[in-house]
Amino acid sequence: MMSDPQARLERLTSMLRRRGVILPAFEIHGGVAGLFDFGPVGGRLRRRLKNAWLEHWLSHGDIVEIDSPTITPEAVLMASGHVGEFNDHMSECTSCGGAFRSDHLIADLHGNPDSLSANELDILITQNKIACPTCSVIDWKPARPMNLMFGTRIGAMKGGRSAYMRPETAQGMFMQFPALYRHFRNRLPFGAVQSGKGYRNEISPRQGMIRLREFNMAELEYFIDPDVTPNHDFSNWDGVEFNLIPDPDFGGPITISPGTASTQNIIRHPTVAWFMARTWDFLVSVGIDPSRIRFRQHEGTEMAHYASDCWDAEIDGSYGWIECVGIAHRGCYDLGAHESATGDKNLRAWRPYDSPKVVDKTVLSGNSSLVGPLFKSRAGAVNSALESMNGLPEKFPFKLELDDGSSVSIDSEMVVEKRIQTTEHGEWFLPHVVEPAFGIDRILWHILDHSYVETEKGGDSYTVLRLDPSIAAIDVVILPLMEKNGLDQIARDIHQSICSIGNISSYYDGSGSIGRRYARADEVGVPWAVTVDHESVQNGSVTIRRRDDGNQIRIQPDDLVARLSSSDFTNLF
Ligand code: GLY
Repeated sequence: MMSDPQARLERLTSMLRRRGVILPAFEIHGGVAGLFDFGPVGGRLRRRLKNAWLEHWLSHGDIVEIDSPTITPEAVLMASGHVGEFNDHMSECTSCGGAFRSDHLIADLHGNPDSLSANELDILITQNKIACPTCSVIDWKPARPMNLMFGTRIGAMKGGRSAYMRPETAQGMFMQFPALYRHFRNRLPFGAVQSGKGYRNEISPRQGMIRLREFNMAELEYFIDPDVTPNHDFSNWDGVEFNLIPDPDFGGPITISPGTASTQNIIRHPTVAWFMARTWDFLVSVGIDPSRIRFRQHEGTEMAHYASDCWDAEIDGSYGWIECVGIAHRGCYDLGAHESATGDKNLRAWRPYDSPKVVDKTVLSGNSSLVGPLFKSRAGAVNSALESMNGLPEKFPFKLELDDGSSVSIDSEMVVEKRIQTTEHGEWFLPHVVEPAFGIDRILWHILDHSYVETEKGGDSYTVLRLDPSIAAIDVVILPLMEKNGLDQIARDIHQSICSIGNISSYYDGSGSIGRRYARADEVGVPWAVTVDHESVQNGSVTIRRRDDGNQIRIQPDDLVARLSSSDFTNLF
């Protein structure tokens, strides 16, 4: 029935709003594009999805959860490259001043507009006489980069520091690398996850939940030694064919299992292939239709500034194929950038050698006949700063930083070079990072989109949200056949007992005809409906109806509570 996709999208959006799943934020003050609320049903749905995501990764055994502030000092994001590089191209209409993402203006004219330079975007906009979507005039200023971060200040007046709302949770994990390294007893590989809000000041948000200015991110940073070849077991996915779209420079679309794609070097790093496979598992487990998942590799010009390789998990839905997860190889970009910016050497890991190495080294020390008399009480500090140098500087005199933060000028006569032999047992290196980064809101949207089924009942339209019971917002709805003769009290008592289980969501609904109440529960995807009827008054038993096939059983409330309390609460009969 009713197959027009745009009309279906409008009905779905309207249902989500009407039933308190996803609603525009601040609406009575005019609303703000790109900001949404999760309502009384959506709030729990989102939490269930987030919990499922956390459990999925924490069950690996070498991954832990951390939680970092969303306000991030400018210095961090300067070092990470976000202040300079985290941009989208913007085109501004000279007539009405409307600002639009340049790649969106020509989205129908190019297969991958995100990969184009400002100049290439301008040429396409001009050649195709693109009109302003607001005022229809065809006159644009040249495309220019706009930074996507929301700026803020930490502290007041002159003492304040510049800061940004975080554009990704990842930087928090990089900042805490030393604590994670200690936690894992100084052994790689290991990972950290974090889920929370991210912020991007999108130029022209559109497509509902797809492009948000404040959104729910869930990211995993997995730290590896680049010199160790990982040995991932891909046998779980033998015979599971993934749809891959490699960078056009490397070949056309291919259907292949992740293990084979890794062996054949279509996916270049085995750990990237491994996380693609585990990402696929997660998406399918929460109700995404596997035939509507594909992995697309970024083209070189499209890659984020920190990535050396990236595969997006894209999901097909009412807005076409949408990137919902990015699985990036970030190399040592971030840890190296923070080390360079701060001089902090604790962002490295230790790699022991198989057997000790004897190495010739040149070490520096102060010329005692000059350093003592010249620097007096600071001579010791000057000597130890010289000894910790890595060979001679390029030119003299040079500025030598001392431990107390001061510096002295050193010329060539003050330095003595010595050749020594040392035995080294290993080396410090910058770990590499593989990052699966999930857009929780986009995934949630697609779960809703894929679960939303429109049918007919008795000649009327009827909709069901076939959510996987493990993430349904409401587990069970309690329906007294009528709110009299004690039926309502029995229903309320059962509702209360179920609420007391914890982590199970029950909803009491006594309002309207029983048919209407079943329909309301089906519309928001409640997997189980419990009806209290006259027989309940006589022998205590109630019926449980399964959403997906309408099958029913009779059961005693204690038994119902016991089944809902078990780990198999998603499968009551
Ligand atoms: N950390 C990945 C991203 O910002 O999209």
